[in-house]
Amino acid sequence: MSEIDLAPLKPAIEKYISMGRSGLLPALHEAQKIYHWIPEEVASEVAKSLKVPLADVHGVIEFYSMYYNKPVGKSIIRVCTDQACALKGADGLLKGLCKHYGIEPHQTTEDLSLTIESSPCLGLCEQAPVALIDEDAQTNITKDFREYELGLPRSIVYGSLRVLTANCGEGTTSLSKYGEYEGLKKARSQGRIEVIEEIKASGLIGRGGAAFPTGIKGEGAERAVGNQKYVVCNADESEPGTFKDRVLLTDDPHRVIEGMCITAYAVGASKGYIYIRGEYPYIVPILEDALRESREAGYLGEHFDIEIRVGAGAYICGEETALFESIEGKRGFPRVKPPFPVTHGLFGEPTVINNVETLCNIPLIVKEGAAGYRKIGTEKSPGPKLFCVSGDVNKPGLYEVPFGVTLRELLKMAGGVTGGKRMKAVLLGGAAGAFATREHLDIKLTFEDLRAAGLPLGSGVVMVYDETRNMRDVLKRLGHFFAHESCGRWVRSVKWRF
Ligand SMILES: Cc1cc2nc3c(=O)[nH]c(=O)nc-3n(C[C@H](O)[C@H](O)[C@H](O)COP(=O)(O)O)c2cc1C
Ligand code: FES
Repeated sequence: MSEIDLAPLKPAIEKYISMGRSGLLPALHEAQKIYHWIPEEVASEVAKSLKVPLADVHGVIEFYSMYYNKPVGKSIIRVCTDQACALKGADGLLKGLCKHYGIEPHQTTEDLSLTIESSPCLGLCEQAPVALIDEDAQTNITKDFREYELGLPRSIVYGSLRVLTANCGEGTTSLSKYGEYEGLKKARSQGRIEVIEEIKASGLIGRGGAAFPTGIKGEGAERAVGNQKYVVCNADESEPGTFKDRVLLTDDPHRVIEGMCITAYAVGASKGYIYIRGEYPYIVPILEDALRESREAGYLGEHFDIEIRVGAGAYICGEETALFESIEGKRGFPRVKPPFPVTHGLFGEPTVINNVETLCNIPLIVKEGAAGYRKIGTEKSPGPKLFCVSGDVNKPGLYEVPFGVTLRELLKMAGGVTGGKRMKAVLLGGAAGAFATREHLDIKLTFEDLRAAGLPLGSGVVMVYDETRNMRDVLKRLGHFFAHESCGRWVRSVKWRF
């Protein structure tokens, strides 16, 4: 084997050395970019530079699917074979690409130019079937796969309400278009407790899946004592069928940043992180630009600043404590709770962690006041809600509606079931969700109505299956997803028989 040249690695990881173990994931991303895999010598150099035990570096490399400890192609094509894409021919796309390049899935071409993999949901379900392809590979592919659109993902946004998505659908919103951080200015003119009370009074419930009241979380962190407090934006969005955070971050990054700034002010946090999944590399430069604009305008920098952290392919890192572990440079194993993040979160310090969509509600609440905000939605589920509609509907896309529209109304907005067929089932809430059937069509999409019917709202997934779909196939794919993404070992030994 040829000797590995460590010269390009050293300057690339230099800026992470002072971060110690917390710099491990960014350093490994650099290494992966340079060598296209992480050879032993590289792992050793990273371990030595960051003062992390080599065994731990290997543990991290093996845990995350976007790090490779064996040579792979210079380019990697990741074809989503998850739920929504499977309905639209993802298996055929994967097969076609593999045939074209003369390899099997998860194999690499002999010249090490390309690896093709199947992938869990890429957060682009409304445009199914999709693949994540780097620029080099795109040039090659264009001529033979003309029927597929290449380039950066589009945002397809509809709905009866355009509050959170007011700036979505026409590309990224610059600070000059977004305007002043009016909510932050108003918040700063009030006391911290007053801001928290307003958020509590708004009744905002977290949109990340666990449905926890946002104001209570803020109150807990405000009261907690620590050396430093953190605000973390959970942009891991890896629940299959979910793509709302992708659209918000791509088209309106300042809304999320403003939400983080207000939260930081309210709880007294001086440092923030946006943890974005590795499958959204195209959003990172958008966020970097928005953070720069925000610093230049004086919103960020003096009292509070935000760092971006990029995940490396692990569904479990969407779980809040696993996400902290990941930022800390470890494998994404969830922690035992309690203690809860508001007192013992990131680096053991008081932390508020919120989903992207939750944070986007904060400027609105502060600007409109709790009473104004509550004009939208229902008593127990106030505010606007984003639903990720995919599968067998005529107009898949991101739908913003007030809480309280029925499933039937939402499906009507989405143009009904494709081919004039009847609906067989709707997966609500994500892979860990549950199926609604025709008898649930008139159910109101609120936390309380769905809970009463034994259905989850989860992260807003609405994946539609027409009457011809074989639900055994659907369940089999769900089973594979959890077998693959489980952080434990036992599921791996289960043989799926359908
Ligand atoms: C397995 C698992 C995966 C999760 N994935 C995500 C995710 O991708 N994005 C997210 O915001 N929350 C996710 N959550 C929920 C988070 O743990 C946490 O509750 C959320 O970030 C809190 O934000 P919220 O209060 O604004 O909803 C996940 C939870 C579990 C158990
Ligand atoms: S992108 Fe394929 S299922 Fe979400």
